[in-house]
Amino acid sequence: MVIRRSKGWEIPERHATPEHVFFARRTVLKGVAAASAVGVLGALPTLGAPDSSGAFYPAKRNEAFALDRPVTPEAVNTRYNNFYEFGSSKSIADAAESLKVRPWTVKIDGRVGKPQEIAIDDLLKRMPLEERLYRHRCVEAWSMAVPWTGFPLRALIEAAEPQAGANYVRFETFLDRAVAPGQRQFWYPWPYVEGLTLAEASNDLAFLVTGAYGKPLPKSMGAPLRLATPWKYGFKSIKSITRISLVAERPKTFWEQLGPSEYGFWANVNPMVPHPRWSQANEEVLGTHERRPTELYNGYGEFVAGLYSGLEGERLFM
Ligand code: MTE
Repeated sequence: MVIRRSKGWEIPERHATPEHVFFARRTVLKGVAAASAVGVLGALPTLGAPDSSGAFYPAKRNEAFALDRPVTPEAVNTRYNNFYEFGSSKSIADAAESLKVRPWTVKIDGRVGKPQEIAIDDLLKRMPLEERLYRHRCVEAWSMAVPWTGFPLRALIEAAEPQAGANYVRFETFLDRAVAPGQRQFWYPWPYVEGLTLAEASNDLAFLVTGAYGKPLPKSMGAPLRLATPWKYGFKSIKSITRISLVAERPKTFWEQLGPSEYGFWANVNPMVPHPRWSQANEEVLGTHERRPTELYNGYGEFVAGLYSGLEGERLFM
């Protein structure tokens, strides 16, 4: 049963219900059935081929992306994660080690002149890697500051040659129930899907990430390829991507399918628009004992505010 507080924005943000608790309540009966299925199937850890991409790191830092706070310690960041494929708690790092990140291919398709399926190591060789310091703001009102390594999403889009009618970019995560126990929970609409408009995907901030803290990306953080869109709530930053498609219609995203009134397509950070069940006015900075006021577009308005003029009719902030 769902218990709603009448004034959700008045509760301390640390009491915000994580998505999994909320949705688990809704689906408790289905959960019982799925739990027995998990027991029957069991997890089969697999090692995969070694990741030899270490030589690409650390990449040169792009100083255009500066922080207003210290970088979150690596040990905090790699062990406090949302990655529902491996469980609905924050402690999924050990379970995520089952993910095989080599070999790994990324399919690029849809309305492009050059569709292809490319091995992650070939992508690393072709793309201009750089390090950027970004803030990351989760819809659950916690934040981190992360040194990502990767390349502008725009570089990949341009190389694929967008064709007429390419209005949106759709991203998809791997689907492998043998490796990812969360994907055996059938009430979630797997695989995880996210999307941006082509204009959003082509702006300077949209970043495809292959590394963090000067090393290849840890599995808990979405190896070997994830998105970083720091002006949006963190759920837009899809992990462990296997497919990127340029499409005409707006993609149906994972969280939008689960909770359209709470986790909409746009999900731009705005402290003035509360989540229906808690305030977004400030955030807990993980690894510190600090709370900070949250900024509009997570402080990245100079890069992205212009993308949204003329879209006032959309639910841009949730
Ligand atoms: N991508 C996939 N495939 N699965 C997920 O569960 N969680 C999202 C996002 N990307 C998620 C995902 C959410 S809610 C957040 S806040 C960020 O990943 C968390 O990224 P981090 O663990 O590196 O902090």
